[in-house]
Parts: sequence; structure tokens; C-alpha cells
Amino acid sequence: MEYKISLIPGDGIGPEIVGEAKKILDKVCEKYGHKFNYEEVLLGGASIDACGVPLTQEAIDTAKNSDAVLMGSIGGDAKTSPWYRLEPSKRPEAGLLGIRKALNLFANLRPAYLYNELKGACPLKEEVIGEGFDMIIVRELTGGLYFGERRTVEENGVRKAIDTLTYDEKEIRRIAVKAFEIAGKRKKKVTSVDKANVLDSSRLWRKVVEEVAADYPDITLEHMLVDNCAMQLVHNPGQFDVILTENMFGDILSDEASMVTGSIGMLSSASLNETKFGLYEPSHGSAPDIAGKGVANPIATILSAAMMLRFSLDLDKEADAVEAAVQQVLKEGYRTGDIMSEGMKQVGTKEMGDLIAERI
Ligand code: IPM
Ligand code: MG
Repeated sequence: MEYKISLIPGDGIGPEIVGEAKKILDKVCEKYGHKFNYEEVLLGGASIDACGVPLTQEAIDTAKNSDAVLMGSIGGDAKTSPWYRLEPSKRPEAGLLGIRKALNLFANLRPAYLYNELKGACPLKEEVIGEGFDMIIVRELTGGLYFGERRTVEENGVRKAIDTLTYDEKEIRRIAVKAFEIAGKRKKKVTSVDKANVLDSSRLWRKVVEEVAADYPDITLEHMLVDNCAMQLVHNPGQFDVILTENMFGDILSDEASMVTGSIGMLSSASLNETKFGLYEPSHGSAPDIAGKGVANPIATILSAAMMLRFSLDLDKEADAVEAAVQQVLKEGYRTGDIMSEGMKQVGTKEMGDLIAERI
């Protein structure tokens, strides 16, 4: 089959890790007889440098005209990079939020599971890890605080900043449906996370999620307050299957969930709209401190490419092959610095990519 893929290398370690993911996709094409036509898209700091803005209409159009988008990471060091001397709406992150909104990517899926091989990198005690864990965070991505009205004003000489958190029932329903659909293919449990003891938006969230749950009688629904969820993730991570939550809570909880797996360098993510189209990116950031050094872990991006094969291109067998190759390389003891432990063989970004490609 022939597909059009937009590639967004982005900033920091982005170009290095996307390069390795492309290597894997090229190997998949060679082995399974597909053809991927790539088009490079600028976003974030790279777009600011080339076009003066973090996201252009041309970038949106190119992405829209492709079957899927594979992205590295965007952003730089907020203390030293000139990008952060621009006003907030012109900084790299605004480009990412802009493309999510423009492509209507309301469903952000962030799987977090513990590889047997990486148990040693997990910061939790063995009795807490138990049988391990395998959860997926389904984060609403185009609403809530991130996209509410905001402004900073001065009233009687006092500076005041206002952010607003809004959700309507349609926004809640469509993300809840995604979560229940996903749970149906997994362990059939949805934990909906909110702050219903304080926020109106959370109280509506709960009601709508319960309405959706009525259509999925075989799936267990539980509600959990976000502060409790933050605690439960390090107390008993094995209890979770699908965590459904709004934009801001999902941002925070997904970083926490990723860290309990041992390294954020392992975690993929998919951002989807109502169709098969999606943008795939690692859950981690652009790590400017190690950019260009050839030491970044490309696995999260490679696993994001596997998600792309599965969700947007319906290439399940190929996605399985990529995931199995990653597992195999870990089993053989190869590690990048972030997941290195005693007795293992440390490799760099390119070598990790080569090893995975060879095993497809
Ligand atoms: C993420 C990131 C982004 C977010 C930032 C870079 C705007 O932290 O994808 O989790 O907050 O959504
Ligand atoms: Mg985040």
C-alpha cells in the first residue's frame, strides 16, 4: 500500500529520534512491500526560525493532506532560547497547541506499561509493582484550560491573570466514547478522573461519562478524584486499565505514569480526531540539554510510529513487528543511557535504531 506521511522533526532531540523512526518505517516498507511518501513539516522553534511563527497554514495543510503525522518534539530551553523572549502566543508550544486544534485531535492516547526487562528502572518498590502494570491514559486534548479564554490585566495597580476552564457535553461525550471503545479491547475498566468535589466542569464530566457508560454495560466505570489518582499511581498502579481525563489533569498524570514505568523515553502517544487520522509523538519533550549528542532514546518515537501503523494505516501486523523488535532489543540487553542498568550494553540513538531495524 502507498501512504502519505507528514514528518515533523521539530526541535531539540526531535530530528535525531524522528530519523530513527523513519529508519524503522523504511524497513517496514521494504519488508512488507509498502511505500511511504514523506513530506517534512516545520513546527515549533524550527518554524519560528524559518517562518517567524511556530505554525503556518502551509504546515496545517500539508498535515491535513496526509494519512498521518509523525512528530519528534518541539521547544527549547526556556531560560536560554530566544524563542522564549517572544510573546506566549508566538512560542514553540503555541504551534503544538495550534496544530492539535486545527486538526481537531481531541483524543490523546498515552499508554504506560512496565516492560519486564525494565523492571530495574522502575522507581517503585517491588511489592508495589506486583505483577506489573499496563494502563492507557485517554486525555482530552482540545478543550479545558488549555483553550479557554485567558488574559492578564491590571486592576487598581494589582496585576491579575485569568484562565478559564470550559467543557461542553459534546466534548466530554466524544472523548468518553473513545475511552470506552478502547477499554472494550483491553481489561474492560475505565477510571474517569476529575475534581468533582470542587469544579462544575468536573461535575458535568461525571454526569456525561455516566451517560456514555450506560451504552457499555460490560465495562466497569469508576470515578476518581485527581489528587487521589496521583497518589494511586505510585501506590497501586496495577489497578488501572483506561484512565479517562480532561486536558490539564491528563498532562500531569501522564508524566507521572510515564515515570513509574522507569523512563519517559519509552512512552509513545497518539492524538486522534474522529477519523483514522492522527498525529503520533513521544510523550517526552525535546530535551535540549542532550540534543545533537546522539544519546537520546528513540524508542518512544519508534513505538509512536508503531501506533501510527496500527491506528491510522490499519497495518496491525507491521505494528506488531515493530513492537516485537523493540522488545527483542531490550531482551538482548541493549539500553540507551536513560534506561541503562548494570550488566547491560549501552548504545546511542543511531545504534538503537539500527538494532531495532535489523530485528524487523
Ligand atoms: C505534552 C506537553 C504539551 C502539553 C506542552 C509542550 C504544551 O507537555 O504534550 O504533554 O502540555 O500538552
Ligand atoms: Mg506534558
